[in-house]
Amino acid sequence: MAEARARQRGGNAEDVSAERPTEAGLRFEVDGEIATITLDRPEKRNAQTFATWSALARIGENLPGQVRVVVVKGEGPSFSAGIDLRMFTPEGVPGQGSFSSAATNGDTDIAQSVSKAQAGFLWLRRPEIVSIAAVQGHAIGAGFQLALSCDLRIVADDVKFCMKEPALGLVPDLTGTKPLVELVGLAKAIDICLTARTVYADEAMRIGLAENVVAGSDLEQAVRDKVAELLSTNRDAAIATKRLLQGAHGRSLEEQCAAEGREQAARLKALFGG
Ligand code: ACO
Repeated sequence: MAEARARQRGGNAEDVSAERPTEAGLRFEVDGEIATITLDRPEKRNAQTFATWSALARIGENLPGQVRVVVVKGEGPSFSAGIDLRMFTPEGVPGQGSFSSAATNGDTDIAQSVSKAQAGFLWLRRPEIVSIAAVQGHAIGAGFQLALSCDLRIVADDVKFCMKEPALGLVPDLTGTKPLVELVGLAKAIDICLTARTVYADEAMRIGLAENVVAGSDLEQAVRDKVAELLSTNRDAAIATKRLLQGAHGRSLEEQCAAEGREQAARLKALFGG
């Protein structure tokens, strides 16, 4: 239905435009229950800046309530080549500073700006939505972490994940370390991060980094199929179930059983309570 379709270029109209859409390098589209975020600077391999992360955070803050699935993808041959390398130069990214200017700030200021950047990634794990990263080509550093911040990863067979930060003297700080350890285990996460080596499609599938590997030409369709599957279940049950699954790691079996009981009581009341 055309009138039910909200299409917004450069992100949420008023918010992301305030973040210099060219530098933010994002497109944001909503089609009913599906939102799509497209990293849209293919000529720079979708390199990310602080404006990208602020724009992502604004999208999360203003996500229309009806959205159930968020797809994050990249235009062009690579999902994302990570942070914009201009950040490593003395000049930095115009209007956004550089690492050398940030290094003159106090620890609290640095922690605050890291936390602000992380806000662009964290909302993708909300129970109310399922986020899917559609990843082709390179997903390096911040690009790898953006893929890790999504609930699911569907990848093309040319995918190349690389946590390059330690090779550049940095740590991964865009929320990626926890999901990486949870997905692949501590030993494999140490191997991947501390060598900054590339993880190709076969290994990504084998170690649990990817749900699905498909030919590049089939990536869009594979994502569409997954979205349709996700939308086929009851919305409120999906939200409650995701909440349960997310909480499982931090609870004992007894606590988890009790949580299941509480969630089910709410479901039964909603469905049959009259
Ligand atoms: N920041 C800014 N510009 C970039 C970046 C980046 N991270 N990555 C690529 N580009 C630019 C290139 O400078 C080039 O621009 P130009 O055409 O104006 O010269 C353009 O994108 C295309 O890049 P190529 O290297 O020609 O593309 P190719 O497909 O051959 O290689 C690759 C892609 C492997 C991703 C390569 O560009 C690369 O290694 N990029 C840097 C990756 C990196 O170190 N990222 C930082 C990780 S750490 C972090 O994210 C915190």
